[in-house]
Amino acid sequence: MSAVVNVASVPKRSPFRYPGGKTWLVPRVRTWLASIGRPRLFVEPFAGGAIIGLTVAFEDLADRVLLVEKDADVSAVWRSILGRSGEALSRRVETFSLSRDTVCALLARPPRGVEERAFQTLVKNRVQHGGIMAPGASLMKNGENGKGITSRWYPQTIARRIRDIAARRKRIGFLQSDALDVISSYAPASHVVFFIDPPYTVAGRRLYPHSDVDHARLFELAANIRGDFLMTYDSAGPIRKLAESFGFDTAEVAMKNTHHAILRELLIGRDLAWLGAEMGQLSLYPALED
Ligand SMILES: C[S@@+](CC[C@H](N)C(=O)[O-])C[C@H]1O[C@@H](n2cnc3c(N)ncnc32)[C@H](O)[C@@H]1O
Repeated sequence: MSAVVNVASVPKRSPFRYPGGKTWLVPRVRTWLASIGRPRLFVEPFAGGAIIGLTVAFEDLADRVLLVEKDADVSAVWRSILGRSGEALSRRVETFSLSRDTVCALLARPPRGVEERAFQTLVKNRVQHGGIMAPGASLMKNGENGKGITSRWYPQTIARRIRDIAARRKRIGFLQSDALDVISSYAPASHVVFFIDPPYTVAGRRLYPHSDVDHARLFELAANIRGDFLMTYDSAGPIRKLAESFGFDTAEVAMKNTHHAILRELLIGRDLAWLGAEMGQLSLYPALED
């Protein structure tokens, strides 16, 4: 391993703290897009916190960006911000007085509309362990730095990120849909580029309410993409085999989190020659992105 890329310098754009967030990949996505030329449409079909799609929009790396997500709670956030409720959602975030009691009261009532659902989702994402929103995730007791339930609630930062995204909403589209359907319908268009980050085969079940993906079918669809794509996966044997059987290129990327654990992820594409010197670089990334 040669140089270490410290992703602390990558601007954080997402209002979510997302398990499996892709900040570490941002420098490589810039290299990839520079190598293939500016896409007319950049699609992130498993959007989650949408770090990559947001970066592409903010850094003007494509004409338009389309985010796709199946989960109704996560979708409520994108629908609010990219619809017309970004300002209202920001204000709710800024004015909420967060305590264990107010959180329990907020999360106990059925949402009265999409914006309230979005707000509940953002709060849940900040008060549950590890940002995990799958059923069974629990509220933080001591917080992640001894500051209790508010330890990851940064209202000014979250509100600012929401406003910044809302200001670009004319260039960012959102679909609450199944990723595979969207890939299938845009695959024949040569000017469309996809960043595909599905729930992983090993940890996915624990992290997201929607984690059952037909991986073989996803690879089949990727093979039909006329533009280009980049996929990320856990470096699991069956996934490597699938990639090989479709003739895709793979590269293992190593990362070190703030607990100094080395993690390995797999990049999959048609041709990863653009990775070049970045191949051997180790990313240093936070344990969970804020
Ligand atoms: C690995 S996460 C994406 C993380 C994201 N790239 C980021 O940087 O924040 C996978 C996401 O895909 C969503 N998802 C799972 N199955 C899906 C499907 N069939 N269609 C669309 N989204 C799906 C999950 O709800 C989850 O938000």
